[in-house]
Amino acid sequence: MSKNVRALAAKCIFNVVDKGRSLSEELPAAQALAAEKDSALLQEICYGVIRYLPELEFDVRHLVDKPLKGKQRVAHFLLLVGIYQLKYMRIPDHAALNETVSAAKPLKQFHLKGMINGVLRNFLRQSEPSQTELPEPIQYNHPGWFINKIKAAYPEKWQSILSANQEKPPMWLRVNTQHHSVENYSKLLSDAGIDHSIKQMLSSTILLSSPVDVSKLPGFEQGHVSVQDGAAQQAGWLLESQANDKVLDCCAAPGGKTCHVLELAPSVEMTAIDIEDKRLARVQENLTRLGLDATLISADATTNSWWDGELFDRILLDAPCSATGVIRRHPDIKWLRKSDDIDSLAKIQQEILQNIWQMLKPGGTLLYATCSVLPDENKAQIETFLANTPEAKLVPITDNSNDIGWQILPDEEGMDGFYYAKLIKNN
Ligand SMILES: C[S@@+](CC[C@H](N)C(=O)[O-])C[C@H]1O[C@@H](n2cnc3c(N)ncnc32)[C@H](O)[C@@H]1O
Repeated sequence: MSKNVRALAAKCIFNVVDKGRSLSEELPAAQALAAEKDSALLQEICYGVIRYLPELEFDVRHLVDKPLKGKQRVAHFLLLVGIYQLKYMRIPDHAALNETVSAAKPLKQFHLKGMINGVLRNFLRQSEPSQTELPEPIQYNHPGWFINKIKAAYPEKWQSILSANQEKPPMWLRVNTQHHSVENYSKLLSDAGIDHSIKQMLSSTILLSSPVDVSKLPGFEQGHVSVQDGAAQQAGWLLESQANDKVLDCCAAPGGKTCHVLELAPSVEMTAIDIEDKRLARVQENLTRLGLDATLISADATTNSWWDGELFDRILLDAPCSATGVIRRHPDIKWLRKSDDIDSLAKIQQEILQNIWQMLKPGGTLLYATCSVLPDENKAQIETFLANTPEAKLVPITDNSNDIGWQILPDEEGMDGFYYAKLIKNN
């Protein structure tokens, strides 16, 4: 494969959209083939096309005589790449057009050069249809099933949720308070010329004005700071681990929350499990960088053959979920997730919850978390669990005593969409 950025982008998007592969795996593979200077451009194009997929598909449909299929299918994605640049990027039109047309050759679509050129030129000539005339999936760039679920759950806020999902996500930092106070680290950032603000949540944290490479963050290699969204950081504080607690982080990989809990209470005896070996290796990498220690077990949390029978004081269940709260970070979720997935995920979540509840000490705390905005995975899940588990008591997190848990919506205070429910096991 050549180093041509547009060709690499078209292939990467083809692999995500048509082959159902994940963008967070496909993009680094494409970037490894590109010249280093093109890495950011490749990322911008791939993320952008996947964010605006229905709208760009709509544009292409109106400009090609017949859909590109089979071996020519990759040229369809090259057209999307071309139109995305013309619509959303500051690349001069003639450069975007010429560069896109010349990507046809490395994609073995040289014979379609003229057609690609014509379609992009016609796109520049045409006037855009008014957005309100378009069907909702095209207007909002989300799948119809998801729009319907969000409308039903948040009749007042559905449009702002969908538009937050289209934003580029901000970069949050979690300061390792074993090394620096947040205020202290903020000074180091200012000295390094990194613009940011301190956000007061359950505790204070840092929001950067624009993302930077981690290598620019003071003390990153030494474990003084980590990158973690503000919403995900709430888990460590909500769990409120005490010195020497025996803690289970179930579904732990890549270990962001495991490490935060240990930073807040280093004497915690931490067991972190995950079903995926490969992802568990990332937990170890994070622990090593931060100088922390945990027992890692590769295991399925719906079973208990891995458990030695000793009860835990606190359990964090960051459950496998639809990830519909982090669409702005992973726009491919919109196309990889299917409506049917939600029921099967909800089933696994309830199964894990019931299984690990037996591992919690009387008086102990279980924090249930998802990065989902769908009530089926969140509030409804906890309601079902409470109805079937008389010894479980819900601890309020928000000021509204009627809330079942805490639903954070995407872009609330700049955070990702997340859900937390805190349960105590009665003695
Ligand atoms: C939302 S992610 C966890 C993120 C992690 N807590 C963090 O903060 O970095 C969910 C994890 O659950 C794991 N998982 C999925 N099904 C599981 C199961 N049945 N048992 C254990 N882990 C599971 C996945 O491999 C994935 O790493």
